[in-house]
Amino acid sequence: MKELKITFPPSTKNRDYPIYIGINLIEKIASLFDLTQYSKVFVITDTTVEKLFLKKLLKNLPEQTKYIAVPPGEKAKHVESVMKIWTAMHDAGLDRKSLVLNLGGGVIGDMGAFATSTYMRGLAFINIPTTLLAQVDESVGGKTGVDFAGIKNIIGTFDQPDGVIIDLQTLKTLPKRAFLASFVEIIKHGMIHDKHYFEKVTSKYPTDFTDEELIAIIYGSCEIKAHYVQNDELEESGIRKILNFGHTIGHAIEAIKLETEEPLLHGEAVSLGIIAESEISKQMGLLSSEEMAVIKLALQKADAPITVTNIAVDAIFKKIKSDKKNTFNKINFSLLQGIGNAVYNQQVPEEIISNGIKAILK
Ligand code: NAD
Ligand code: GLY
Repeated sequence: MKELKITFPPSTKNRDYPIYIGINLIEKIASLFDLTQYSKVFVITDTTVEKLFLKKLLKNLPEQTKYIAVPPGEKAKHVESVMKIWTAMHDAGLDRKSLVLNLGGGVIGDMGAFATSTYMRGLAFINIPTTLLAQVDESVGGKTGVDFAGIKNIIGTFDQPDGVIIDLQTLKTLPKRAFLASFVEIIKHGMIHDKHYFEKVTSKYPTDFTDEELIAIIYGSCEIKAHYVQNDELEESGIRKILNFGHTIGHAIEAIKLETEEPLLHGEAVSLGIIAESEISKQMGLLSSEEMAVIKLALQKADAPITVTNIAVDAIFKKIKSDKKNTFNKINFSLLQGIGNAVYNQQVPEEIISNGIKAILK
């Protein structure tokens, strides 16, 4: 046998990128980024965000910029939509030096970046997240994807953007329900990483923070997320899995509810996942009953759901068996070890998983 090893020099691709956070930044895009370095610019958005912000953005882009608007929401996050996006990219004549702007919530962020990272083996893109959830979580870190076979984000890539523009003006039109659901990810960042941040972001009702306070909170969440992304970009060492606390059960509930007349927003499903996985953390001896009570109260005070109806334990089990964090047929959980600290790759007896799920069933 002969073996030939293909070796590569250290990557020369600059993977650093800026996240700009402020007000009315959409109008400043051409001063934040040198758009003349790209051959063409193309925008991906959804039909709700199209009506709200596309015109403003296009005004500040090259005149011949083309765009596509897909239907809004998680139900459109699938490969058929991606095929429409690829077709529009092809019709717009994009080449490998073109730039794509993902203007929208987490669905557009994940799906637009997936379409972009696979078109011509990857074009440059900048994220312009328009929901708080996409601003504090989805747009940062380079995970792209779509849902498939009833499983969340099971098709996807890792690809970092050239930059992120977080414009607080977009939050003014966000429905209260979406704002509150987004806040769950902010609270989660505190739970997994920083007790002081957790106390700060739960010190007021989410909509009572001023713009200035919100900028600091968004910065804080992006900083926490960046810590895990910088240390484990491709989720290889595993530490990045900590960001998925609440998501093993949360994603299962989100996928099940998506098929019903009462779909949940991503952050709402994550809130339920957080309660279930905190209960599991407690039963595994990692979290005290007092801390469990603090977590419950914090989510309750932020108007995030902590119980759910019309869902069966078995259905959730079936879904979590397809979770991306699992390896060698073992369900791997990220769990809390006290508020502000988390552990990953935790294998939990089925009975305790069941107890965790039962803690959220009404
Ligand atoms: P979303 O993109 O579906 O947005 C929610 C709704 O708000 C949509 O109907 C959208 O049209 C509308 N909307 C968006 N911006 C608006 C605005 N400024 N004003 C009024 N309406 C607006 O959902 P989301 O909650 O933003 O994101 C959830 C998605 O993000 C899920 O698919 C989830 O899996 C993904 N996600 C990915 C990561 C990651 O790391 N890649 C992290 C967290 C979540
Ligand atoms: N949303 C989890 C991650 O970015 O790793």
